[in-house]
Amino acid sequence: MTPTGTSPKILVTGGAGFIGSHTVVSLVEAGFEPVIVDDFSNSERSALDGLRAILGRDVTCYPVDCNDAVAMDDIFQKESPLGVIHFAAYKAVGESVAKPLKYYRNNLDSLLLLLELMPKHNVKNLVFSSSCTVYGQPEQLPVTEETPRLPAQSPYGNTKAIGEDILRDAVRANVPVKAMALRYFNPIGAHPSAQIGELPLGVPANLVPFITQTAAGIRSSLTVYGNDYHTPDGTCIRDYIDVMDLADAHVQALRKLNEDTAEASYDVINIGTGRGETVLNVIKTFEQETGVDLNYVIGPRRPGDVEQVYADVSKANTVLGWTARRSLAESLRDAWRWQQKLSL
Ligand code: UD1
Repeated sequence: MTPTGTSPKILVTGGAGFIGSHTVVSLVEAGFEPVIVDDFSNSERSALDGLRAILGRDVTCYPVDCNDAVAMDDIFQKESPLGVIHFAAYKAVGESVAKPLKYYRNNLDSLLLLLELMPKHNVKNLVFSSSCTVYGQPEQLPVTEETPRLPAQSPYGNTKAIGEDILRDAVRANVPVKAMALRYFNPIGAHPSAQIGELPLGVPANLVPFITQTAAGIRSSLTVYGNDYHTPDGTCIRDYIDVMDLADAHVQALRKLNEDTAEASYDVINIGTGRGETVLNVIKTFEQETGVDLNYVIGPRRPGDVEQVYADVSKANTVLGWTARRSLAESLRDAWRWQQKLSL
């Protein structure tokens, strides 16, 4: 089967990445035709094989850096998309501290280019990947979209805050774009088919890939970063959102933007479950669900970690008609199935 000719096209920058690839599946299921732009600098071509296995056909993919103005102009010209979902960005917090200019250049230039090309090609709908990192350690929990943003702890986090500001200012100045920034909490899980999932480069920094790699024997042990926080079991609390649910939130955001008759608009929405889980509870749930005993030790706190953050998701419910459906247990089972497939 080849791509259908009638479905509205959606440009998905970073569409071969973790969240991007799952969103490609959701878009197809919702009747859209995704067009991937990905230079594979932080993703693998094997994601396209996984997509083919799930969808039973190929998805158009341009192996292009989305900062390449000439190539991007051509893609807009050729594809005439209905909207853009902009995932492509560098995301390693530690690396961003060491190489801030690389992060500012890549993450901000690509957004600025889209904001030039979209009006030029009369494309109005833009979904932007933001992050709960913009809240830092909030004074009140759960965090709503009105919770003040705090100064970013890293250049990576700053690119998300600045990206939001760029969108806000552009819309204020009537750049004819309708934009939504989705503030993701902690994305985890994988497609239940185990055909696509997270592919961390090198040693994973994030909790769930580290857990699954430890369970698979790739890492000898997991370090829990601190158990002296002011939380029920002393470990940090996060809001872990399943990547399939997160993907669906993008489709809903796109639909909402497309219905909006405004010339220009900007909104920001939290995408989480509304539930906070401690690190130890994630470990315990993983062990229960998979029957694998995890080798873990308690270590010192990780510099820069916030103690706890979880979302108030009422705006996502009311504005997008979206709510997270999948449980932590399901997400961890899928992440483990994906890891087992990778280890084959
Ligand atoms: C991190 C980034 C955040 C980014 C997000 C992307 C930082 C400070 N924040 O969020 O900006 O948007 O990833 O997914 O890096 N943990 C352990 N042991 C481990 C790994 C993690 O105990 O080996 C704990 C952490 O202390 C934290 C929780 O697990 O409490 C989640 O950590 P992680 O998956 O790295 O996500 P965040 O730090 O919340």
